[in-house]
Amino acid sequence: MKFLVVGNWKMNPQSLSEANRLFDSVGAEAEKNKNVQAIICPPFIYIPVLAGLSAFAKGYDGLAFGSQDCFWEEKGAFTGEISAAMLKDSGCEYVILGHSERRRYFGETDETLNKKIKAALLAGLKPILCVGENDEQRKNGKTEDVLRNQLENDLKGVSGPNPQVPSSKFQVPVVAYEPVWAIGTGNACEPKPALSAVLFIRKILTRLFNRQNPENFQILYGGSVNAKNAVGYVKTGGINGFLLGGGSLDPKEFGEIMKTAGNLKSAGFEL
Ligand code: PGA
Repeated sequence: MKFLVVGNWKMNPQSLSEANRLFDSVGAEAEKNKNVQAIICPPFIYIPVLAGLSAFAKGYDGLAFGSQDCFWEEKGAFTGEISAAMLKDSGCEYVILGHSERRRYFGETDETLNKKIKAALLAGLKPILCVGENDEQRKNGKTEDVLRNQLENDLKGVSGPNPQVPSSKFQVPVVAYEPVWAIGTGNACEPKPALSAVLFIRKILTRLFNRQNPENFQILYGGSVNAKNAVGYVKTGGINGFLLGGGSLDPKEFGEIMKTAGNLKSAGFEL
């Protein structure tokens, strides 16, 4: 299992030429750190251009594409939506689903997410499912309840006794622990509580997927990760990657974070 460094560009940058420049710099950093898997998640509209360039002209190793969302239907009258298969066809291997900004601003619910996760898996995309508590829930000691509820509802039927589609079709999604209060605030969750949450997520996934080995799940941390604090999470040995927002828009920062991850052996995982 390679350590994942996922860059969520969100609604940035503002033009295709800037996106090209950013991608060039990030691709060069990925080339230098091939023992880490970089995944770039640009706005939809840039994906085919950048993925096309990388596949046919630039070919950066160690770099894959993801999108920031997808729709659950395969085709039809759904104005403004983009299917998982279209993303796959445009060069994506991953899709971020359930980011807190989508849950908060765009009415994403556990029910819609559940449909999206199944659609993504069926189309051959690997979902990166985001879960995490908000500040109020944290202060009320509800973190584990929130994580359990989100995982159980978002992954209903993805594995287990009564799947809507054959379970052989499904891979296990990547999960990102993203405490909402830590996203874009500069107030990162310390490595120790982040690791506890990740271990809790691991326990829930092990039960939901009825797996023997909890180490098989790939679980990331996201929320104000930067070049300085990245080392603390990698050193825990139990966190298998990062989901970066701001840090993915600065190629130097992104490169430093990849280097830190690549230089440190996370116990039990091949980096
Ligand atoms: P941040 O964002 O790194 O800017 O805190 C993380 C995220 O949105 O996943």
